[in-house]
Amino acid sequence: MASPREGRQAGKRPAGARSRQGKRILLGISGSIAAYKACLIIRGLVKAGAEVKVAATANALRFVTPLTLSVLSRRPVHSDGFDPQAWDMAHLNLASWATRVVIAPATVDLIARLAAGRASGLLEALVLSTRAPIAICPAMDSEMWEHPATRANVERLRGWGCEFWGPVEGELASGKIGVGRLMEPSEIVARSLA
Ligand SMILES: Cc1cc2nc3c(=O)[nH]c(=O)nc-3n(C[C@H](O)[C@H](O)[C@H](O)COP(=O)(O)O)c2cc1C
Repeated sequence: MASPREGRQAGKRPAGARSRQGKRILLGISGSIAAYKACLIIRGLVKAGAEVKVAATANALRFVTPLTLSVLSRRPVHSDGFDPQAWDMAHLNLASWATRVVIAPATVDLIARLAAGRASGLLEALVLSTRAPIAICPAMDSEMWEHPATRANVERLRGWGCEFWGPVEGELASGKIGVGRLMEPSEIVARSLA
């Protein structure tokens, strides 16, 4: 049997990768300052042998480039539902392709749109269309997270079966300490593969 070193030298997947084959993760990304951490999540998932497709909001792509997300996921990034190249109705295809949908980071506004059952963008539309389990990983200021509007939206989505992973307590983009920080990318990767 090849040693782990030999395996790496031969360009093989790392140990454990085989068991992750068949995991098809649809990663949704929205316009939070934490969007760059989605790159680490994609990398971790791909490294573990999962297939990853990315659906990003237009605002997410103001924080991270489609090029970076494409190179890391090894696939084109989906964002514009009206893209003529997405003639095969990407939102429906992505929704049925995924074995799990993970949205990281999820903005307060995206959470509100999802809780309203909106289908205003590709990501929202596929969330409504999928039958795969959905995990939402919020990232925002603690005031936004604690606002009664957000609390109500989260409870509504939980009632529809969405899981919330985080947010966790820690240093926020503002420099303050509080609840609102995106769950650690490594933890999101581990949960996505579980
Ligand atoms: C620099 C910057 C950082 C932001 N960070 C966050 C954030 O961490 N969480 C959040 O909910 N909104 C954040 N916002 C606001 C969202 O970008 C804004 O609500 C946007 O409409 C969300 O779009 P989307 O949900 O379609 O991606 C930030 C805005 C800016 C300009």
